[in-house]
Amino acid sequence: MARRIVSSLVFNFIFLNLFSCLLVSSSHSDSDGRKTYIVYMGSKPEDTSSTPLHHRSMLEQVVGSSFSPKHLLYSYKRSFNGFAVRLTKEEAQKIALKEGVVSVFPNEKKHVHTTRSWDFMGFTHNVPRVNQVESNIVVGVLDTGIWPESPSFNDEAFTMNSKLNKQAEFAYGAGHVNPLKAINPGLVYNASASDYIDMLCGQGYTTAMVRLITHDSSACTSTNTGRVWDLNYPSFALSTTPSESTNQFFTRTLTNVELRASIYTATVFAPPGLRITVDPSVLSFNGIGETKSFRLTVQGTVSQAIVSASLVWSDGIHDVRSPIIVYVLNKP
Ligand SMILES: *[C@@H]1O[C@H](CO)[C@@H](O)[C@H](O)[C@H]1NC(C)=O
Repeated sequence: MARRIVSSLVFNFIFLNLFSCLLVSSSHSDSDGRKTYIVYMGSKPEDTSSTPLHHRSMLEQVVGSSFSPKHLLYSYKRSFNGFAVRLTKEEAQKIALKEGVVSVFPNEKKHVHTTRSWDFMGFTHNVPRVNQVESNIVVGVLDTGIWPESPSFNDEAFTMNSKLNKQAEFAYGAGHVNPLKAINPGLVYNASASDYIDMLCGQGYTTAMVRLITHDSSACTSTNTGRVWDLNYPSFALSTTPSESTNQFFTRTLTNVELRASIYTATVFAPPGLRITVDPSVLSFNGIGETKSFRLTVQGTVSQAIVSASLVWSDGIHDVRSPIIVYVLNKP
């Protein structure tokens, strides 16, 4: 599990951000006011042979006589159950209420940040190669559905540079990962399926919606409605509004994955205007598998669109870093 967490971290923070790419089609509206929406219906069913038919009959039912088969753009069958469809806003709202539907969201067009990852990451060109070390390491795999000859990989017109990128961690991730150090991270932020279920229940998902995703008997009860700020994720993100002062706390649990005992001290790097505290700021672990919790509080006012800070837990050997992002949401 610890390995899986490391690899998903690498995946999330670097590759997803670098290679986020074009989905189905653009989200512009047709003259009839339709846009492309993704209707998400949970995990994929065991037998997917009748899925497109089922999607179509559901659309016919909800949308009625204005439904035309050409509006159903794609039925997903491989990784999850759902479809891409051109709908009016009202139709999208109706489908969201339909039994069996977890969520409906507008399709978005994403752009790659670079097709030259090596340069983008700031690596030099004359790196000494160590074959014994380099073999057997998979840093990340992402199946985007685009192919090598895709125009998306045409390097023309790319002048991307992480220093020029104002979107900070949202665009380029948590920074460089040293794969050799990541093998022995010292501490991990572990999370299991039930942590995610608690978070979804706390976000207003119903038992029925959660079961569409888990395909088991998971339920939302009064005891498992978790706050989104308490999901045991290795990064911290907080939205605020302009000039409003922020005061929010997060809780996290660290698991020691080293055999020996160790003492970790927290260091926070915060920009002016933000006060970030960690309590307790020293955690001692007696051995492998031991867990310790802490609370991180962010207070202050943010004047830019996005500000970045970070938390590093260090025992002198391992530096366990988490990005902290506070971003301003303009009130609608
Ligand atoms: C992480 O959590 C999973 C699921 O609860 C558990 O099986 C695994 O042993 C945990 N890993 C560590 C390093 O504690």
